[in-house]
Amino acid sequence: MSEQNEISRIEAAREKFRAALAEVRTSSEFQELRNSWLGRKSGRIAEYTSLLKTAAPELKKELGRAINELRSIVETAIAEREKEFGASARPKNAVDITLPGRAPQLGHRHPLSLVRDEVMEIFTRLGYQVLEGPEIEDDYHNFEALNMPGDHPARDMHDTLYLETPIAPAKAGALQPSRPLTLLRTHTSAMQIRHMENNPPPVRLVAIGPVYRKDDLDLTHTPMFHQVEGLVVGTGITLADLKGTVSAMARELFGSAEVRFRPSFFPYTEPSAEVDIRCFKCAGAGCALCKKSGWIEILGSGMVHPAVFEAVGYNPDEVTGFAFGMGVERVAQLKWGVGDIRLFYENDLRFLEQFGI
Ligand code: DAH
Repeated sequence: MSEQNEISRIEAAREKFRAALAEVRTSSEFQELRNSWLGRKSGRIAEYTSLLKTAAPELKKELGRAINELRSIVETAIAEREKEFGASARPKNAVDITLPGRAPQLGHRHPLSLVRDEVMEIFTRLGYQVLEGPEIEDDYHNFEALNMPGDHPARDMHDTLYLETPIAPAKAGALQPSRPLTLLRTHTSAMQIRHMENNPPPVRLVAIGPVYRKDDLDLTHTPMFHQVEGLVVGTGITLADLKGTVSAMARELFGSAEVRFRPSFFPYTEPSAEVDIRCFKCAGAGCALCKKSGWIEILGSGMVHPAVFEAVGYNPDEVTGFAFGMGVERVAQLKWGVGDIRLFYENDLRFLEQFGI
């Protein structure tokens, strides 16, 4: 085939191209056409261009012109049609209304929030006020005013976390703070003092929030956990009021009305009692949950010690009161049979998804 022939073949290719372009209907046909003409390696134009390498020198010029003309015709026509396809094609971010809808993923309430809210609800219904207070506390409110002065041995039970930077010295109650140390509160009982030193009796409060202790992580311990503190002060408040209140709460939280009071010791109450509920799993027969005793301990409580009233400027001859403290994690563990306390903090959705919305 002579090169002259090649030139006329290339010129004829314009018509072929126009005819082929006129046939194109879909965007994939269009892509195919584009590739077969403009494809870098095996497109027709590339093929023609490769002829230039071997063409006779006197024809190179004309061959090159014919190829360039063809290329520009093809490129222009393709660019034009491309616009058309672009305009009629589905816009990039179009919504396909035939697809099934995506169900929104609903979050779940954290089990500890559920317990906190349930406790708050129970006590607001009973006319209590709900308080929160500082997690960074001073020695005075956490210990001293709660009848645990200086080297009181009960402090050892708390494994306190102290802070190096002191906060402003505590506002003195009737007692003078002897140790203006700063610490992370080890119990919510500190809120008893904070409230009473600023408010006259009567008192009916619950305080809920995080507390801290120097504990290692294990199945039942974390260095941070949550407590609910209850305090009622007024004239003629008795142990019977404590018992009635704690039973009512236990009934609502666990559905178990039977409670038992065991003598105990807390420096800020006298008498003091630990409260157990009848094991709701075995109904008292004895099982793994209640360690075969038939009873489950849920809180510490007692009648407010006169020394505490004196510290906040209340007259122990005029008022009496009761107080109790309960672990929120413990309630949640019991309610839902959560064996490992660490699950509350690991943010594992497989665990969290099991709780209410
Ligand atoms: N503060 C105690 C604790 O952390 C719980 C407690 C016991 C609170 C007896 C009280 C109480 O108010 O009267 O274990």
